[in-house]
Formats: sequence, structure tokens, C-alpha cells
Amino acid sequence: MCSSSSQGATDSLVVCLPDTTNNMFEPVSQSAREIRELSWLVLGICAAIGLVVEAVLVWSILRFRARPHAAKGEPSQVYGSNSVEIAWTVVPCVIVFVLTLATVRTIREVELTEPPSGALMVIAIGHQWWWEYRYEAEGVVTANELVVPVGRPVWLTLLSADVIHSWWVPRLTGKTDLVPNWTNHTWFNAEQAGIYKGQCAEYCGTQHGGMFLRVEARAPAEFAAWIEEQKQPASVVMAAEQGHQLFTELACMNCHEVVGTSDGTFGPSLTHLMSRSTIGSGVAPLDRDTLRLWIADPSNLKPGCNMPSLKLNDEELDAMVGYLLTLR
Ligand code: CUA
Repeated sequence: MCSSSSQGATDSLVVCLPDTTNNMFEPVSQSAREIRELSWLVLGICAAIGLVVEAVLVWSILRFRARPHAAKGEPSQVYGSNSVEIAWTVVPCVIVFVLTLATVRTIREVELTEPPSGALMVIAIGHQWWWEYRYEAEGVVTANELVVPVGRPVWLTLLSADVIHSWWVPRLTGKTDLVPNWTNHTWFNAEQAGIYKGQCAEYCGTQHGGMFLRVEARAPAEFAAWIEEQKQPASVVMAAEQGHQLFTELACMNCHEVVGTSDGTFGPSLTHLMSRSTIGSGVAPLDRDTLRLWIADPSNLKPGCNMPSLKLNDEELDAMVGYLLTLR
């Protein structure tokens, strides 16, 4: 669900609202469920401690408040009470011990050291400020929208092209960082079809807040069909030749891959651009209008992003948008 709003007198800014919840208390995978259960336990224990402390505090404030005719001076003092000392040492130790055991148990269940059997293997690479996804075995490269089959574990190898990012889709699993020159892994198993959203969870620069995550879990047959589509080379439409020509003459092809035309890797692959539903890593819905706004100047939608404005005139813009719209 997206709505347009006006920012200042100049550009129209598109604000994208989540069309599904990203509530971590509504898990759709085993590991997210484990994390929810641990969260309830920790919240419950902490809430109970908070209640007891507040209750004693309020009681003390009322019971020992200053009264106009009360005797002056200090209340009676208690020193060296063994029972009190033992109680406030042992009870917190037991609480911390319980929380530690529960946490270690959950971490062991959530963090695997090797991929579950039959897992779909995907390499996820964090970039400022978008996500690259490489399905190595399938020979598919896409960006920002991870498509996975329902009911099959997905093993993500997490890498970074620049700074530290963090992959967090709360309904699927907990957060794991993508660290330059380091390999991390995470996994999840989506139990229901749907769109699961998230957000880069480690500050990574100006557009950290515009680095959304989107995982689409599809039925296995639909997923297989999607893979087949993605494996096709980019479509060639004669009517879009002028835009295609521009794409190859301008700087576009240095950064973007369009199989059959260019092999840039600095920016997202555009081979099947229009099979995605958002632009700019989820900052706006992908359609003719937002595409035009984006190409005119990406900072219309994503201020600070690394793609420059190519300063195209209206005719060139139309041709370029016309070409990109054919990349299905
Ligand atoms: Cu990427 Cu924050």
C-alpha cells in the first residue's frame, strides 16, 4: 500500500507503507517462533521484577511520607541482616541463571552451523543501500526482493560489499549482520505463502532507513516457475530500441546488469526489473511514474543514494522508461 504526498513545492515523494505486518510476535517460521517464546519469557520475568520493585517503591512513598505531626528524626536502621543479604544475592542469581539457560538453548536451536538438508542456497550481499540476491545453483541474480518456496529451508550466506548491514525479517528469523570480509549465515523456513518485510538493522549510512527487506514466499510450483522466468535472458522489444540504445550509450551499463546487454554489478540487476514490485530497495512501488521520477533523479525518491541523475531530457526519459518497462 503506497500513497503519494507532496514534499515542499518541488517533488512528489512516494511513501510506502507495509502491506503486511512485520510483527515479530506473529512468526511464520520455526526459528522466529523460538525467538518469540524466549522474548515472552524474558519480558514476563522482567515485567514481574518491575511490578515488585514499583509496588515496594509506591508502598514506601506512601508509608514513610512526611506527615505534619510525626516524630522527627531517622527511621530505625537495619544493618547486617543475613537473611536479607542472602535473599537479594541468591534471587537475582537464580533469575539470571534461568535467563542465560533459556537464551543459550534458543541460540542453539536458531543458529545452525551448516545448512539444513534440502535447503535452497542463496547468497545475500548488502550494498549501500540495496540487497543483492544470488541463487548460485539456479543461475539467478536478483535484487531487493527475495523469492523463496514455502516449506523448504532457505540458507542465506551473508556478505557485504561495503559497510556492515544487518538482515532482519522479524516474522522469519532474528537479525544477522553482513560484515565486509567476513561470511555469516542465517536460515529460515517460511511455513505460509506471503510477503514478509523487514529493514536493514545496522546503521549503514544516509539511506539506512531506506534499505527495506522483502521476502516473498510462494508455493513450490510458483517458485519453480519464477526461477524459470528469471533464468531467461532479457527480453528484446523492437519498439523500445531507442531506450535500449540510450542505456548502452550512457553510464547505465557500467553499473547495471541486463543479461545480453551489459554486465555491471555495482547496482541492482535489471534483467527482470519489472518482475519486482518496488523500486529503490522498497522505498516506492515500481511503476511507470516512479521509474520516471527515479531516472530523472534518484534522489527524488531516495535522497543520498549512490546513483547519479543522468540529466536526461523529457524525450530521453520517456525512451529510457519505455525500455526499462519491457524488462519483465
Ligand atoms: Cu544497510 Cu543499514
